Amino acid sequence: MIYPVFSPEEAAEYIQNGMTIGVSGFTSPGCPKVVPPAIAAKAVREHEAGREFKVNIFSGASTNDNIDGELTRAHAINFRAPYQSLGDMRKGINTGEIHYNDRHLSEMSQEFRYGFYGKMDVAIIEAQSITDDGDIVLGPGVGSTPTWLKMADKVIVEINDQLPETLYGLHDIYIPADPPARREIPIYKASDRAGSPYAHVDPKKVLGVVKCSAPIGKESPFTPVDDVTRKIGENVCDFLVNEMKQGRIPKTFLPIQSGVGNIANAVLDALENSHEIPPFEMYTEVVQDSVLKLLESGHCKFASTCSLTFSGSAMAEFFSKPELHDKVVMRPCEISNNPEVVRRIGVISMNTAIEADIYGNINSSHVSGTRLMNGIGGSGDFTRNAYTSIFLCPSIKKDDCISTIVPLVTHVDHTVHSVDVIVTDQGVADLRFKDPIQCAHEIIENAAHPVYRPLLREYLKIAKGGHILQDPDIALAFHSALAKEGDMRKADFSKK
Ligand code: COA
Repeated sequence: MIYPVFSPEEAAEYIQNGMTIGVSGFTSPGCPKVVPPAIAAKAVREHEAGREFKVNIFSGASTNDNIDGELTRAHAINFRAPYQSLGDMRKGINTGEIHYNDRHLSEMSQEFRYGFYGKMDVAIIEAQSITDDGDIVLGPGVGSTPTWLKMADKVIVEINDQLPETLYGLHDIYIPADPPARREIPIYKASDRAGSPYAHVDPKKVLGVVKCSAPIGKESPFTPVDDVTRKIGENVCDFLVNEMKQGRIPKTFLPIQSGVGNIANAVLDALENSHEIPPFEMYTEVVQDSVLKLLESGHCKFASTCSLTFSGSAMAEFFSKPELHDKVVMRPCEISNNPEVVRRIGVISMNTAIEADIYGNINSSHVSGTRLMNGIGGSGDFTRNAYTSIFLCPSIKKDDCISTIVPLVTHVDHTVHSVDVIVTDQGVADLRFKDPIQCAHEIIENAAHPVYRPLLREYLKIAKGGHILQDPDIALAFHSALAKEGDMRKADFSKK
């Protein structure tokens, strides 16, 4: 190998205050693991010596605790984009310490290439291997890595010996040309390949290689399916089966995108248990443990993804079964989430909402409109371009104190114009072929929890207007009751 071999600490010495860093991966798989903690330790030393030390971090999506956790706790992050999901970083963002730009994941790479974020000083990449010619077999999460390798002045490569050789061939690395030269992305079904099994870097840019041996699975465990998430899953299945019966989804079915988290897992479980949903393909950004089961049972015929967001045991199982490897491809997030492809192949999108309003606007990212939870992630990439876009959430939270269906959302990530269906444990609200007031009745009667239906109906009676009914004095009464009394049931519409 022509590249110098560094310790993590030696690699971290290259990083200076104010630098912009791109990291590999998408969710925790594929992220570098040993150099970022060494940068955090350097930040602590610099701060103790009275010197400024903060960097800007760009990723594919959320990362791992070694990056977002350690660097946040070391007060070493100035700017962060496009997505995160860790408690410590959430605090740093919500106190204003970290400047966070919540971006559509499919756009991050191209926006960087367009020059919107200045130059990238260094990329820190986890890899299975690198050749002297600069061909890289990436880990189990691609993210924006191919673009970081192209844009960064220098590259540090972590070679993790836990990454199996069988990763070779699972990636399809394709970077579209930038406008005005861009042509169509040549993907016409989920299993098509457009690029190369390798990512590529100019070997002259490689500062060095850091060798490590670190676990490669997802860090946090999945919560088992419970009664509420099971009911949401069953309601989704009923809706999809009916769509097939009505001829709105072909009998061969359509590719599915499913978001992150426990609700998404429960929905995939329900799809697996359904006898009426035929085997399907996935065009999605993450595959979780539930997808491994679907691949094994043959219920999922093929999964196009950006990342294998498997737990450690599921990751080991996947790599021990080469017969599954032909059923999966990992792509950069600008392709796994690409609006052009999503629209072309007719993806059914399923994402989770924090809250929805009675007209169908969705808040996915900001609790009570102010506190960032995670970010929009890929939900907008898929929702806006889906064949049918579905949002999922439990109808109530924190016992009965929070209704996820509210008169008006406190922050809008997805407008009603992109939202077709809202599914809760109560049922399915189908917003298609309805005007806003019809949508409101549909959502209140089919998606809201019975405890909150009378209050929501009352709001609709009080609200005034034309095409849409609102009362600006009380539209956020649910949220003010939650803030003041910890309970949305105490919303009082008489207080103006
Ligand atoms: N009002 C007030 N608080 C609310 C709330 C509401 N309407 N909805 C949720 N919360 C609080 C919860 O009580 C919980 O607080 P806690 O941590 O103190 O218990 C917290 O916000 C998180 O809620 P939870 O129900 O645990 O969230 P989740 O794990 O089901 O995730 C999203 C839901 C929306 C946050 C998550 O799916 C997400 O980040 N989505 C955006 C990204 C995305 O869609 N990516 C997929 C694209 S492929």
